[in-house]
Amino acid sequence: MTLMANDNRLAIVTGGGRGIGEAVCRQLAKSGLRVVVADIDGENARRVASSLGSGHAGHAVDVTDEAAVSNLFDDVEAAQGPVSVLVCVAGALILPGGERPLIKDMTLDNWERSFAVNASGAFLCSRDYLRRREALPVAQGRVVFFGSVAAQLGGYRSSAAYIAAKSAVLGYAKAFARESAHLSITANAISPGLIDTDMLRSTVGSSGALLAASQNIPLGRIGTVDDVASAVSYLISPAAQYITGSVIDVNGGYRMQ
Ligand SMILES: NC(=O)c1ccc[n+]([C@@H]2O[C@H](COP(=O)([O-])OP(=O)(O)OC[C@H]3O[C@@H](n4cnc5c(N)ncnc54)[C@H](O)[C@@H]3O)[C@@H](O)[C@H]2O)c1
Repeated sequence: MTLMANDNRLAIVTGGGRGIGEAVCRQLAKSGLRVVVADIDGENARRVASSLGSGHAGHAVDVTDEAAVSNLFDDVEAAQGPVSVLVCVAGALILPGGERPLIKDMTLDNWERSFAVNASGAFLCSRDYLRRREALPVAQGRVVFFGSVAAQLGGYRSSAAYIAAKSAVLGYAKAFARESAHLSITANAISPGLIDTDMLRSTVGSSGALLAASQNIPLGRIGTVDDVASAVSYLISPAAQYITGSVIDVNGGYRMQ
């Protein structure tokens, strides 16, 4: 673990109600950060927050809703002070009927909802964070975005809308890194490979298919949520203060080139 033991910065983790986001919340809380678990599923957000112990909070928020994102920052900062760390994990892979839609069958609604959650959500949350840090700078400001190996490989199992939206996030992370660097904020993206969560299981299906998928991964296994959360812990730590505008692959070598 690379974080300082006395690190009590305030962090917002979107999509913290389950999967990778939940693991991020657990690792940050274990390292001493005060964690705001933000998720469209408010029940899950509160469940995760209360399981972390005291000093943490759960909030229901839809990251695609501009006013709701702003209210989240208002409420959190009024109650707990400036947010130092923002981790934008919230994402969605929309598979109508459980099937990956081909471009020729893709609806505009699917395309727009994919962009709203994955790309606009990251934009809205990070824009609010940046506005507030311009007004009130913090030490060790950090933003971590979530791309996907699907954006880097063209995706075998995900939809074109998801792939395009995650590609947008990878580009946006660099733009954000440039525009926040004068505040000594670092901003990076993590690009997970195949990670064992509900989202992956919605694309791969059975355990047999999961096992088959792992055979294409040089390290020979599907990733865990903690594999990804550990990369977040590193990026928000003082040890990573000179890393910005980067994409860190967490994929067991799946995309080696
Ligand atoms: N699991 C993988 O293999 C994998 C691979 C590459 C990238 N990713 C990315 O990693 C991130 C986490 O993935 P996961 O597998 O844990 O997904 P998941 O579906 O298990 O969890 C996503 C979380 O985001 C929340 N969420 C969805 N829409 C939201 C919204 N509009 N506002 C707020 N919260 C919202 C969900 O309620 C859920 O708690 C996502 O951005 C995903 O695209 C995952």
